[in-house]
Order: sequence, then structure tokens, then C-alpha cells
Amino acid sequence: MAIRMEPLQAHHDTEAFGCGDDALDGWLRRIAKQHLRKGISRSFVAVESGNFHRVLGFYSLTVGEVDADALPSAIAKKLPRKIPIVLIGRLGVLTEAQGRGIGGYLLVDALHRALRVSSEVGIIAVLVDAKNKNAVNFYRHHGFLQLPDRPQRLILPIRTAISLFEIRPG
Ligand SMILES: CC(C)(COP(=O)(O)OP(=O)(O)OC[C@H]1O[C@@H](n2cnc3c(N)ncnc32)[C@H](O)[C@@H]1OP(=O)(O)O)[C@@H](O)C(=O)NCCC(=O)NCCS
Repeated sequence: MAIRMEPLQAHHDTEAFGCGDDALDGWLRRIAKQHLRKGISRSFVAVESGNFHRVLGFYSLTVGEVDADALPSAIAKKLPRKIPIVLIGRLGVLTEAQGRGIGGYLLVDALHRALRVSSEVGIIAVLVDAKNKNAVNFYRHHGFLQLPDRPQRLILPIRTAISLFEIRPG
């Protein structure tokens, strides 16, 4: 079945979602739609054709900034003290749908959106707060670098994303 991304909407069944991490599940169930109404973060869900209510995976995006001092030296060179970033605050895949490529699909979709944002406002990198060791490994597998003093926080420069994933705005 074909999978597609949609902005989180009222009809998506967030109550039935479970990815194995209670904090992530609780956030999607209780907070994501509130954030949407208030404009605090935007969430996007993966759904399957034929069952557009069932959430197979999701991620949330917001913007922020990070101190250049906190970055790996390879990235921090010649940058100002505060670096504008897009933050992937949360990302998870329904337990029974894991291992089918949906996590990678969510990540590339998030990078596409970050790239589109970067063409309108200044954004240098995508940051993620990995919730556990498993998540750290997932992001490292996709080219993210750990911050030296905060290894659960990882960064991928927009330019690296373009070259690694061959993504373009559009
Ligand atoms: C981590 C998670 C998002 C991965 O999603 P998934 O759909 O199972 O992953 P995919 O099938 O899309 O895997 C894509 C690629 O990532 C790799 N990968 C998946 N999980 C990985 C992990 N934990 N460590 C390293 N690599 C991993 C896969 O081998 C695959 O590699 P390939 O493209 O080179 O073949 C999912 O397991 C999950 O939701 N876990 C629980 C919640 C969580 O920890 N979320 C992250 C918090 S921020």
C-alpha cells in the first residue's frame, strides 16, 4: 500500500498510536493537536492509502537556535555565536510498522520541509533531540553528528542534507 505524509489533522487517530516510547506516544496523544492550535509546533503523520485515520508514524517541527560553541568543531567554523536551526522535536513509528522504511521516509520528509524553510528564512542546520540510545543510533545512521557535551542532541547541516539525500526545495 502507498504511504503518504499529511499535516496532523483532527481526524487522525492519535489515541491508537504506540511506538514503544511512552513519552513520545503521550506527546502525540495529548500535546500535538494543542500545539497545532496554538502554532507552537507542527506535526506531520504518515498514513496508508485506504486507512487515512491510522497514524503509522509522525514527527514534529519547530524552529530554534543553538550556541555555535556547543557544535562539533567541523560545523562551528566561521559561524556566528547563535545558529538558527529547525528542530525535529519528536519522531516515532508505530511499533508494528517499524523496520519497513517509514522512519527513514519521515526523516527525509522533515529534511525537505527544513530545506523549504531555509529558502525563506535563514536556517543553517537541522537539530534533533533523540529520546534514547536507539534513536541516537538511528540519527547517526543517517549522517547526524552528536554534540560533544550533549550526545542525545544531534545536528545535520542543511548543506549536508542536500548532498546526502539529494533533496531540493519543492
Ligand atoms: C527509531 C525509529 C524511528 C526507526 O524507524 P523505522 O521505521 O523502524 O526505521 P526504518 O525502517 O525507516 O530504517 C531506515 C534506516 O535506518 C536504519 N535504522 C533503523 N533503526 C535504527 C537504529 N535504531 N539504529 C541504527 N540504524 C537504524 C535502518 O537499518 C535503515 O537503514 P538503511 O536505510 O540503510 O537500510 C523507530 O524504531 C521508532 O519509532 N522507535 C521508537 C521511538 C524512538 O526511539 N523514536 C526516536 C525518538 S526522537
